[in-house]
Amino acid sequence: TKVWQVMDGSNPEMLAEQLEEAAALLRAGELVAFPTETVYGLGADARNTKAVESIFKAKGRPSDNPLIVHIADERQLDELVLPYPELAGRLMKQLWPGPLTLVLPVHPEAVSPLVTAGLSTVGVRMPDHPAALALIQQSGCPVAAPSANRSGRPSPTLAEHVLEDLGGKISGVVDGGATGVGLESTVIELPDSNTIRVLRPGGITAEQLQNAAPEARIDAPAPTTSEVTEAPRSPGMKYTHYAPQGDLVIVQGDRAEAVRYIQEQVNGTRATELKTGVLTFDERTASFDADLVLTYGSEQHLEQAAHRLYAALRRFDAEGVQRIWAEGCSEEGIGLALMNRLAKAAGHQIVRL
Ligand code: TXA
Ligand code: MG
Repeated sequence: TKVWQVMDGSNPEMLAEQLEEAAALLRAGELVAFPTETVYGLGADARNTKAVESIFKAKGRPSDNPLIVHIADERQLDELVLPYPELAGRLMKQLWPGPLTLVLPVHPEAVSPLVTAGLSTVGVRMPDHPAALALIQQSGCPVAAPSANRSGRPSPTLAEHVLEDLGGKISGVVDGGATGVGLESTVIELPDSNTIRVLRPGGITAEQLQNAAPEARIDAPAPTTSEVTEAPRSPGMKYTHYAPQGDLVIVQGDRAEAVRYIQEQVNGTRATELKTGVLTFDERTASFDADLVLTYGSEQHLEQAAHRLYAALRRFDAEGVQRIWAEGCSEEGIGLALMNRLAKAAGHQIVRL
């Protein structure tokens, strides 16, 4: 697995030059991982069935979970999709490039049927990352790319995470340092001309969608704290995801009670010699005594918590932590996506105090 370092502050021409070999490999049907503003993606030419098949193999991904197609230019869209609602056009204009994936009617034969898992729709997005845009542009391909992790593990926010999971199995990785948002894109569909249905909360918040389309009705998933769970609408939402190897429990509710509860659990577990971990906020790191205490950053900055979540989950694995308690947070703004991923990572084990 080759690693191409992209230099900070490279302009588009320099990037094109640095990424020439990576782009040529994509064109030739090889797998190349690359940074986006959300997480690292594992890219392949979306039109090449053999290439797309090797994405599923490398990740160990179930074949009924469709892939997002990444583009660098609005003109690429015409070849990929059939006519779409005017609302979609407005959202793209305002929020692309950015962490928003639109599920649109797929143009027959535009991409390999493996990309859409046989559905009549395709998820498309234009990432807001100079190296991703340069790579896609230079390759000349629509680039199918799931997150570049082994299926079930936390998504990669560093090139090192990609190598940890897929080193030796893919042709290369473009190393652009840490990704920005740290959680995946928001996936939406438009069931009618005035409704935006959020299939997966992510980097674009419900508020941002509402601002981009003030008259639209936003149909967003219920917060994890509500007990009702619906049948998954997006195929990918039904699988175990983002999980560390240790057993993870989320603790929500009154902060003082949460501290007391978690510390009691840690103390009880220590008697069994299992390695314990706590994921908390800066405001309370000093309140815990466990084998490994990690922080999301300040509770006042949930963007930072989103940015750090996956790296923290991977760190617990690296240190062999077997029992982990993570403090939950507000589900406002990016908090909705954060709690969505955390709940999945915990297999929905949530203690409410
Ligand atoms: O931020 C992201 O979206 C990252 C970066 C690499 O772009 N990609 C990513 O891909 O998270 P992946 O494969 O890990 O997640 C794609 C999600 C899955 O939940 C999948 O089910 C959903 O998008 N999806 C893709 N195509 C779909 C479609 N046609 N209809 C409904 N859901 C779809
Ligand atoms: Mg993924």
